[in-house]
Amino acid sequence: MSTSTTTGQRLLPPLRLGPLEVDTPVVLAPMAGVTNAAFRRLCRENGGGLYVAEMVTSRALVERTPESLRIIHHEPDEKPRSVQVYGVDPATIRAAVKMIVDEDRADHIDMNFGCPVPKVTRKGGGAVLPWKRDLFRDIVRAAVQEASRKNIPVTVKMRKGIDDDHLTYLDAARTAEKEGVAAVGLHARTAADYYSGTADWSAISRLKDAITTIPVLGNGDIWAAEDAVRMVEETGCDGVVVGRGCMGRPWLFADLQAAFEGREERVRPGLRHVADTIYRHGELMVDTFGGDERKAMREIRKHMAWYLKGYPVGGEVRRALGLVDTLAELRAHLDSMDLDTAYPGPDAEGARGRQGSARQPACPEGWLDTQDITPDMELRLREAELSVSGG
Ligand SMILES: Cc1cc2nc3c(=O)[nH]c(=O)nc-3n(C[C@H](O)[C@H](O)[C@H](O)COP(=O)(O)O)c2cc1C
Repeated sequence: MSTSTTTGQRLLPPLRLGPLEVDTPVVLAPMAGVTNAAFRRLCRENGGGLYVAEMVTSRALVERTPESLRIIHHEPDEKPRSVQVYGVDPATIRAAVKMIVDEDRADHIDMNFGCPVPKVTRKGGGAVLPWKRDLFRDIVRAAVQEASRKNIPVTVKMRKGIDDDHLTYLDAARTAEKEGVAAVGLHARTAADYYSGTADWSAISRLKDAITTIPVLGNGDIWAAEDAVRMVEETGCDGVVVGRGCMGRPWLFADLQAAFEGREERVRPGLRHVADTIYRHGELMVDTFGGDERKAMREIRKHMAWYLKGYPVGGEVRRALGLVDTLAELRAHLDSMDLDTAYPGPDAEGARGRQGSARQPACPEGWLDTQDITPDMELRLREAELSVSGG
């Protein structure tokens, strides 16, 4: 299943986030609908790192919606417990972080300023929010103030900016650093880039030059451990954040740990290992969704194409797996494949998941005219949070 030679040296020291030390400086990127407790378990069983939950909105948390509480729930053996909060209103963010801290629900809080989805940016949320410098500062300040009462580190995850003419990341990162965040993460694309093209790692280098007192985490287009090594070497970043590359490949975290420890060992699973992982993922999903097998199966369907990418599995089985309703059906369809099939090589690797094409992001009218925020805009922003699904 894997090949191995050992060369020796650690690529980077452990990642320090305030009081937390993450031995392997690798972060599972928060991904709504993907990085739930089940998927995080599969990933963390493979290698070291920090595994961030799906985004939750501050409003949903404050309202204690069952979905938001499901999202921030961690299994007892999960350490550190990491959550990501999305918000647009400093007071709501403060209340949400206070709740997390007072109720001891997390050891690390990441803040989402990277969402490029039109229904969010149209109201001024997500990746277009840091353009409003004071609002960004107030949100970060509120979170850090509340979290620091219990010494919980807060990090910020952002994009480069709205588009190439409205870059915000350097300013926003300096502000975040001043406000006491424990690290900044950069998805090296603008909102306008969406998920298209290749991430601009040179922006991570520039961020690393600008931010000297806290770790800089690089994100974008790490599809293999070798990409992570290259990102560290090219940008000088202190850790990497891995999103789509691990979808259907939780063993990527084993490769990443090996690479960061200077080992060339890589996991090259045959189809039997993939099928066992899918089934286990299904079982874990049932737990994650409180025993609701149908819901769990609906949620796992989208993972099939990622798991099976590059493996010679026929269309009929793929279609059947994309429609599973029960664990028994899942087992039967998996067993109908030729499980002795070996790792197919490069076909199983490379880009997967969202690509999308570049588009000018929708912003509220007049948004780009000034970096100050008006009361009218603040009001609309609160609506923006209501339209985000994050619990
Ligand atoms: C399905 C999906 C869901 C995502 N959800 C979130 C999210 O909840 N919060 C966030 O900050 N980023 C989210 N992202 C963005 C990723 O965290 C990451 O920044 C992005 O995919 C780029 O990294 P990658 O090239 O390694 O995938 C999401 C991405 C995908 C593909």
